[in-house]
Amino acid sequence: MTGRVILNGFLLLAVVISVTASWIFSSDPARPNFEFLPQMAHSPRYNAFAPNPNFANGSTLQRPEPGTIPRGSMLLHYAATPQDALRAGEELTSPLDSGNVRARERGAFVFSNFCAVCHGAGGAGNGPVAQRGYPPPPSLLAEHALKMKDGQLFHVLTYGQNNMPSYASQLSREDRWNAILYVRAMQAAATPVPPPTPTAPSVPQLKTTQSDAAKVAGGQL
Ligand code: HEC
Repeated sequence: MTGRVILNGFLLLAVVISVTASWIFSSDPARPNFEFLPQMAHSPRYNAFAPNPNFANGSTLQRPEPGTIPRGSMLLHYAATPQDALRAGEELTSPLDSGNVRARERGAFVFSNFCAVCHGAGGAGNGPVAQRGYPPPPSLLAEHALKMKDGQLFHVLTYGQNNMPSYASQLSREDRWNAILYVRAMQAAATPVPPPTPTAPSVPQLKTTQSDAAKVAGGQL
């Protein structure tokens, strides 16, 4: 009997202690919880530009080893010359499928933000900058631009061409390809599809007579 009373008393005391403890510890909801071995979660580190005794040159940011390239980077081995633009035309192909609607829509966005000021919304070379005295660019719908290969356009956007500045620092490579896809779509929409050339006039040509013309006009043919 007394044993049970002592046990109950002990349990009651334990409940009171744990309730009080939880009330004390949770009384401030803004206070972070107790962290066990905080060094494991928050390891000590140096800020990028802080001095660092662990390296011989005493700085935290280290130069990459000569000859190394950042992971995932693809170097372009071209110079800003017309010859290399032609070489890029032979060597580089667009990674985008011509039917990629998302890329084309993104390209339209890029074009209206970065290109239309000079090239005009339709690519005719009549953008507001060109109308205010900047050397007007040639129409992107003209034969010269139609004949340029995708890789060559990529070279123009990356390195510039005469009065056209480089867009490498403003546009990611992906966005340059997106813009090119949109330029191609604009060109395709503007170029009239040539009518299929008849191979041989297999069907004898019917002569339209005056009376036929009258019937067409009257809706009979
Ligand atoms: C500051 C005005 C300007 C902007 C902005 C501009 N261009 Fe140009 N662009 C030019 C000029 C000027 C030329 C003609 C360069 C020359 O004389 O060879 C040109 C040439 C081109 C050519 C070559 C056309 C040809 O027939 O040789 C392409 C392709 C082209 N631009 C695409 C673009 C695209 C795509 C953008 C947007 C990312 C853009 N340009 C932004 C001014 C501009």
